[in-house]
Amino acid sequence: MEVVVLDDSAAVASLAADTIEDVVRRRAAANTAAVLGLATGSTPLATYEELSRRTRDDRGPSYAGVVTFNLDEYVGLPDGHEQSYLATIRREFTDAVGVPPERVHGPDPTEETLPSAGERYEAAIEQAGGIDVQILGIGSDGHLAFNEPGSSLASLTRIKTLTATTRRDNARFFGSPDAVPRHVLTQGLGTITRAGHLLLLATGEGKADAVAAAVEGPVSATCPASVLQLHRHVSVLLDEAAASRLVRLDYYREVYADKPDWQGI
Ligand code: F6R
Repeated sequence: MEVVVLDDSAAVASLAADTIEDVVRRRAAANTAAVLGLATGSTPLATYEELSRRTRDDRGPSYAGVVTFNLDEYVGLPDGHEQSYLATIRREFTDAVGVPPERVHGPDPTEETLPSAGERYEAAIEQAGGIDVQILGIGSDGHLAFNEPGSSLASLTRIKTLTATTRRDNARFFGSPDAVPRHVLTQGLGTITRAGHLLLLATGEGKADAVAAAVEGPVSATCPASVLQLHRHVSVLLDEAAASRLVRLDYYREVYADKPDWQGI
């Protein structure tokens, strides 16, 4: 696991954007479709904005052949609700960079077909050839996607019940914790760890404990994000505040400062 501590959230967004663009360009050069795994929530917004800015300034790659898969989706919102994660990702990112809408995917929360939604989503990811790079945020309770504490480290896409902590954290999008849906469809931890490269972004002091538990604590379902320790290619991009409770902080800085130029992220 590579832990990169950067000055601020803008630097995190810039390095994350470089990483995404690199995959999109490499795939285009090989005439294949880049498959991006996308997180919603506040943390990746600066990265999406940075990628959108580069596209506006004609500095970005073409996203015409890109395919995207969201991590998760709320269950029970009315059709077209502005806080649905599919609507959010289109508004905040994919429309701005030009990913064709039919290539933007999320778990399908339609009530009548809910029991098969997880299986269908797994099949769709597999059919696309798997996810090249998966952007991740982390919950203050250590959740990854909406795999709340106690989630199986081998889990696949399925329905989950949000914890009171997560409903409180997400109340800012809905007005109150009670208005936040109780159920979600989420990629499982087993789904997430099939992606080729995992890119965890965390900024702000509120994430410092969860980051320390995920990176330096024991691998345990109690901190779902600790599953990252089992993956062969993980980059954890942090600002100073989110990194502040890491015990090996000095070592991570040293490793990054001495990183050979030829070694990509
Ligand atoms: C969102 C998601 C969640 C968030 C996490 C952090 O698709 O999967 O795990 O990444 O709740 O959210 P923010 O970034 O809003 O702090």
